[in-house]
Amino acid sequence: MRGAGPPLKGRLSPQEVIGLDILILIVENTHFSSFRELSLTKPVRAKISALGTYLPPRVLTNADLEKMVDTTNEWIMERVGIRERHIVDKGVAASDLAVAAVKKLLESHPFDLQEVDLIVVGTVTPDMMYPSTACLVQHKLGIEDTWGFDVSAGCSGFLYALNTGVKFVESGQYKKVLVIGSDVNSSMTDYTDRAVCIIFGDGAGAVLLEPAEEGELGILDHVAQIEGMGGQYLFMPGGGSLHPATHETVDQKMHCIHQDGKNVFKYAVKKMVEMTERILEKNKLTGKDIDCFIAHQANRRIITATAERLGMPLEKVIINIDRYGNTTAGTIPIAMQTALEEGRLKKGDRVLVATVGAGFTSGATLLRWAF
Ligand code: UT7
Repeated sequence: MRGAGPPLKGRLSPQEVIGLDILILIVENTHFSSFRELSLTKPVRAKISALGTYLPPRVLTNADLEKMVDTTNEWIMERVGIRERHIVDKGVAASDLAVAAVKKLLESHPFDLQEVDLIVVGTVTPDMMYPSTACLVQHKLGIEDTWGFDVSAGCSGFLYALNTGVKFVESGQYKKVLVIGSDVNSSMTDYTDRAVCIIFGDGAGAVLLEPAEEGELGILDHVAQIEGMGGQYLFMPGGGSLHPATHETVDQKMHCIHQDGKNVFKYAVKKMVEMTERILEKNKLTGKDIDCFIAHQANRRIITATAERLGMPLEKVIINIDRYGNTTAGTIPIAMQTALEEGRLKKGDRVLVATVGAGFTSGATLLRWAF
């Protein structure tokens, strides 16, 4: 190749010559047919081809909480919209819920787990600081040759994990990606803090991502943003490298969720609207084009305010916070399951998913449901 073209070198600066030499070397070492293949290959789209969720059997009702803190069922229902949430028994961790969710997925969509190329787990309540929950899940499921990692994005954990998995499928190299959202919020909830303990529950959901066949089904687009100034409003300060565990950090409950509810609420409403409007505009759509709106379940009022702003009737909005509370990275797949069970999500539906979480993290994903 080199030398076959016109003598370019005479017309280039020394820096350009070095750059050109590197380019020529790359071209020389690249098989031309694979270049052609790359440029002619149709872009791969990812689709969710199966779903499984798991909620631990123990239920913590508002009546139970009335006995634990100064609160009432009426206040919780009116201000947040939660009636009950599920809580793990001692010794049950995020990886256990994740594995149970994958087993549920397999019941509805049997396939050989050994084919899984990648496991991405969204969680902020990993079993431990390390190894990652993805490693623990891989081991518990006995998947022999795969890789994986965790994504920490608070309540946006599942959506961020999903969009990460999507990119791997879109690369054309990954055929089966397990994306899991799993959180055991009860492990870091202070059950004497009435503004926090009423909100959170435990739960997990898993989806299988695969390349979509021809057609319009699958994950279409996503937008996301982080704004670290929000860290001060929702955080768990203890146990990391800044405040390693000591008697003092435990006495000060630094290993529990700290939340400035009012500020999180204000941000969540503003950002949920902003992200959903951003993705709709980007795709030249309006709320009326959406068949099913699945938002993070943190407060019923945040979800309905966003739906109202988008001009979306409530029958298109999935709300299950009354039954499960806020399960952080679990909420989106669990809400997808609710939508399927209630017959409000079917193949071909245009679905809008939106989240806001600790960080702050936010995002929205547009997809066409594929099964
Ligand atoms: O997933 C992302 C993370 N989280 C969120 O998105 C949560 C966002 N924030 C919220 O959902 C709401 O801010 C809360 C549910 C946390 C609180 O509701 P609020 O309507 O914003 O209440 P508030 O913080 O403004 O408090 C109003 C009053 C206060 O009493 P005073 O000071 O007016 O006497 C609170 O002490 O309500 C009191 N209060 C409660 N009363 C009964 C707070 N929690 C409770 C409670 N029961 N559980």
